[in-house]
Amino acid sequence: MKITVVGTGYVGLVSGACFAEVGINVVCVDVDKKKIEGLKNGVMPIYEPGLEEIVKRNYASGRLQFSTDLGEAIQGSEVAFIAVGTPPGEDGSADLKYVLAVADEIGAKMSDYIVVATKSTVPVTTGEKVRTSIKAALEERNSDLTFAVASNPEFLKEGAAVEDFMKPDRIVIGVDDERAEEIMKRLYKPFQLNGDRIIFMDIPSAEMTKYTANAMLATKISFMNDIANLCELVGANANMVRKGIGSDPRIGTKFIYPGVGYGGSCFPKDVKAIIKTGKQYGYDLKVLQAVEDVNDAQKHVLVKKIKNHFGDDLAGLTFAMWGLSFKPNTDDLREAPAIVIIDELIAAGATVKGYDPIAMKEAQHIYIGDKITYAKDAYDACVDADALLLVTEWSEFRIPSWDALGKLLNNKVVFDGRNIYDKNYLEELGFVHYGIGV
Ligand code: UDX
Repeated sequence: MKITVVGTGYVGLVSGACFAEVGINVVCVDVDKKKIEGLKNGVMPIYEPGLEEIVKRNYASGRLQFSTDLGEAIQGSEVAFIAVGTPPGEDGSADLKYVLAVADEIGAKMSDYIVVATKSTVPVTTGEKVRTSIKAALEERNSDLTFAVASNPEFLKEGAAVEDFMKPDRIVIGVDDERAEEIMKRLYKPFQLNGDRIIFMDIPSAEMTKYTANAMLATKISFMNDIANLCELVGANANMVRKGIGSDPRIGTKFIYPGVGYGGSCFPKDVKAIIKTGKQYGYDLKVLQAVEDVNDAQKHVLVKKIKNHFGDDLAGLTFAMWGLSFKPNTDDLREAPAIVIIDELIAAGATVKGYDPIAMKEAQHIYIGDKITYAKDAYDACVDADALLLVTEWSEFRIPSWDALGKLLNNKVVFDGRNIYDKNYLEELGFVHYGIGV
């Protein structure tokens, strides 16, 4: 079986490499020549645990190929996945120009029946738009070739993307063509170790499923952040409340950790996009608007605590910041709370010394630049700093030497944006600990 994956971003590259890993012949296509050349030489455009290994192994075996030529790649491919970016437009809706350009090119260059499946997170009705683009391109060349459109949203998490893809909880496929359903079933057979994990449905439902999943998870987080803020006011402990409610399986233990707000490429963008879709159809998604508002506010909570402690004017103070990426195990800084926190600290006159195990290059080159200084390790960031800020809960920050930190820091003060430290223990050691809702 041969397939093409268009777009070598997170979703495209991980999907392509994982399909190759189970024995499928995959051509990964991208318009970015540099990226494609890099991949051929084993240079990963993103950091993702386990990815480099499977890309290199499958490229060496010939099962995984990289190309900039979409027309050539789709010859003999039974499926073409569209996994290109859908950046938010100015009004918050997903911009489909890249998706539709790929559809158009497939229509112009296909030479046999093909299933065109969108993997990018796209608004409801995109399936129809993809179909219209391909049809128009075929009509232009007077071709009577047939094709099917499918929606196959991806649920992988950054930092665990390979594992999520290889062992999916579910595979959602929206399709309205029997032949396409058979092809998709065959393609995904290797990933269903324990029974049938494919859920077939109509295309709009598959498109809605992706947004609804992300919106629900974002809702859990914002809900818990809201509750954590109230816990502080009433003198309750959000960690205890979290454990108390999480033990009810209907609520579950996951995604109820309060913190400095969610970031990344999915939640912020998808929550905005589904609100926008609602508006287009004259429906106000009130809960999700609140989810977004709470998250925007939550990114400021840590600085509010800092100002409560040190006063509004932070001139002359230096803060050690541990963690820059939006979550651990990724170098991704898209919508990272760290960016908001840094800007606010600097606006108040402070200096920031940042450290992140993986994301510093990305931070320096794209998101934060020279606004802060970058430390060579976690302890180096604390030398002469006036407080420690924990922003991303990388494992290496979990059990630091408090003894050493107490000597390096000017003040024994910790702002723990992810509640990873035990308040009582730190207080016994003479530290002041500020958490979220604790
Ligand atoms: C998410 C979805 O989990 C995934 O299924 C989808 O395909 C893409 O979006 P991702 O953005 O990679 O994945 O990260 P995720 O691990 O879900 O975390 C998102 C954000 O929520 C992070 O900023 C994280 O710190 C935050 N978070 C998560 C919390 O603040 N509290 C929690 O309890 C869980």
